[in-house]
Amino acid sequence: MEVALEQFFIFVGLLACLVYLVKCVRFSKCIFLHFWKVLPRSFLKSMGQWAVITGAGDGIGKAYSFELARQGLNVVLISRTLKKLQAIAAEIECTTGSSVKIIQADFTKDNIYEHIREKLEGLEIGILVNNVGMLPNFLPSHFLDTPDEIQSLIHCNITSVVKMTQLILKHMESRRKGLILNISSGVALFPWPLYSTYSASKAFVCTFSKALQAEYKRKGIIIQVLTPYAVSTPMTKYLNTNMVTKTADEFVKESLNYVMIGDETCGCLIHEILRSFLNLIPSWVLYSSTFQKKYMDYLKHNTNTI
Ligand SMILES: NC(=O)c1ccc[n+]([C@@H]2O[C@H](COP(=O)([O-])OP(=O)(O)OC[C@H]3O[C@@H](n4cnc5c(N)ncnc54)[C@H](OP(=O)(O)O)[C@@H]3O)[C@@H](O)[C@H]2O)c1
Repeated sequence: MEVALEQFFIFVGLLACLVYLVKCVRFSKCIFLHFWKVLPRSFLKSMGQWAVITGAGDGIGKAYSFELARQGLNVVLISRTLKKLQAIAAEIECTTGSSVKIIQADFTKDNIYEHIREKLEGLEIGILVNNVGMLPNFLPSHFLDTPDEIQSLIHCNITSVVKMTQLILKHMESRRKGLILNISSGVALFPWPLYSTYSASKAFVCTFSKALQAEYKRKGIIIQVLTPYAVSTPMTKYLNTNMVTKTADEFVKESLNYVMIGDETCGCLIHEILRSFLNLIPSWVLYSSTFQKKYMDYLKHNTNTI
């Protein structure tokens, strides 16, 4: 009996060591890629001539549009406000020499995809960035006190990812080449109270993305979900930048170094570290009213607009 118990504890100990070893390998990969850019500059361009970016009119989507154009791809920008799209398109064409197409669409609606399909027809699309998303409440707020935008949130954060993937993946599959980046969020990694619908919608993106990568990896397609924490954009009321809160440009440039790291990444080293740190904190501490109040105060003191 004693021997069996001893063997059991040895087995559990070895298992725990193995889990930590796997975590260390993942972490060292991030550190390595943070300091040494190993992807050849031609890699993204080799996926195909065009990149499609949803929610490209501002924030992270705008930063992806510029960076992918800088890396030699032509870009299709899809977003809500035509004037913003026209201004960005002109700037991209002028500064990078890449071609730009714009599509005005509102992703809170579900009848836009035939129009998008027609506009994308005939393009060799190598990269899709499913970036568009909405956050119903910037400050923590109880479910019943949050604006009733449930259907819009589902269409914008969930349907958009599935439908855009459906439109573009089949062409990637026939070319046996392509990269799909799905922008989820750090709040998808565990249930995040006071952002319940947003957190749950982003968890969908993670699960969908990882399942799809398992299905299509062998067909030569890379599907990666990104789970960043704070990035300073209109969505986060231009949260003051610091070591953790990145500008959209910083985040995008770094995240593109990690496209080969695996099916999920926070997109930057500092957010990977934050993720590991948050994992160590018991959920009752994170969910406590003291923590939530501190978080609310942090947001209020670090934005200029509220
Ligand atoms: N910022 C962060 O800290 C953070 C952290 C984790 C994850 N994320 C995720 O990253 C993605 C981008 O976030 P962001 O902070 O860059 O957002 P953002 O600053 O709000 O910019 C979003 C862009 O998407 C467009 N957009 C919003 N709703 C739309 C709709 N219904 N139809 C079409 N276009 C729409 C906006 O259009 P207009 O130009 O018309 O406004 C804007 O161009 C989101 O999925 C978000 O959930 C962000």
